[in-house]
Amino acid sequence: MGNNPALSAGELEELLALEDFSPVYRRANEVRREQVGDTVHIRAILEFSNVCKRNCAYCGLRAAHAGVERYRMTPEEMVDTAVEAHRAGYRTLVMQSGEDPWYTPELLGQIVREIKARTDMAITLSCGEMSKADYAHLRACGADRYLLKHETADPELYATLHPDGTLENRLRCLRDLKALGYETGGGFMVGLPGQTNATLAQDLLTLASIPCDMAGIGPFLPHPDTPLRGSAPGSTEVTKRCVALTRLLLPRANLPATTALGVRSAGEKSDVFSCGANVVMLKVTPTCYKRKYEIYPAPLPDTHIAQQRRTLDEQIRALGRIPC
Ligand code: 5AD
Ligand code: SF4
Repeated sequence: MGNNPALSAGELEELLALEDFSPVYRRANEVRREQVGDTVHIRAILEFSNVCKRNCAYCGLRAAHAGVERYRMTPEEMVDTAVEAHRAGYRTLVMQSGEDPWYTPELLGQIVREIKARTDMAITLSCGEMSKADYAHLRACGADRYLLKHETADPELYATLHPDGTLENRLRCLRDLKALGYETGGGFMVGLPGQTNATLAQDLLTLASIPCDMAGIGPFLPHPDTPLRGSAPGSTEVTKRCVALTRLLLPRANLPATTALGVRSAGEKSDVFSCGANVVMLKVTPTCYKRKYEIYPAPLPDTHIAQQRRTLDEQIRALGRIPC
């Protein structure tokens, strides 16, 4: 296995099914070290609104879930939290929300401009599907990166899970973002009901086709108040295999050990950073809102932004990696 091998769908499927995957993990870890070094980038994530007009079958924030107490942070609260995160040492802020039309592209753009004026943080937006013109406006306001997972590359599975969208439009968004000069983040879930290794191979090739600069790959976690409540959770092992294969396909990509992966592997001794990952995201969402942003069931740390960051810094150093 060399760098950036042109792995075919068939080869990816075979690798995913290996009895002993350890040689691939070793190679992914080497490629990670050679290409992007030992740094683990810590990103701050601010979940500024849990209002969503869509009804993705897996998500706890879907519009039809009436049990969620909805919130919207004011622009002032968002800017204040951004400044606090900057003071705590963060250099990238991920601003994430449901698809909430209350934040028009104009308003979001103003908030991005204000945060850019007050800090030197890179800004990543993760606010869903928009027109190319709106993405262009936000880019002009200073947004540097955009996260929009394609979720699954199987068009039929995509249609079953997403009553309000198509895989085609999702991919159109990713291509527009890339063309506008955003550092573009894709990604998908592992263990969705009906997914096979052939689907996962297509997911991996989709990331490579954009090509994505970042990719968030996490296990599916069933939320009790969604139509998928009865489905089994995705496997952490298969998730890590997908991260490792992404590192081979996209050697220089930024690959987070996703929060969902952390949730599922919390009890396991294995190191979520040894499969090729080099990024981790920490929530800086104010505590009063954090528990309301429940995409999937997950325990929440109630420590302060600065304390949480210090703890993570120590954990990363203990793995012989460099927090940044
Ligand atoms: N399990 C795992 N990940 C989920 N997401 C949404 N719902 C779930 C779930 N039940 C992920 C999707 C989405 C991101 C915001 O969270 O990949 O892009
Ligand atoms: Fe809304 Fe995103 Fe959840 Fe879909 S995954 S329902 S778009 S918050």
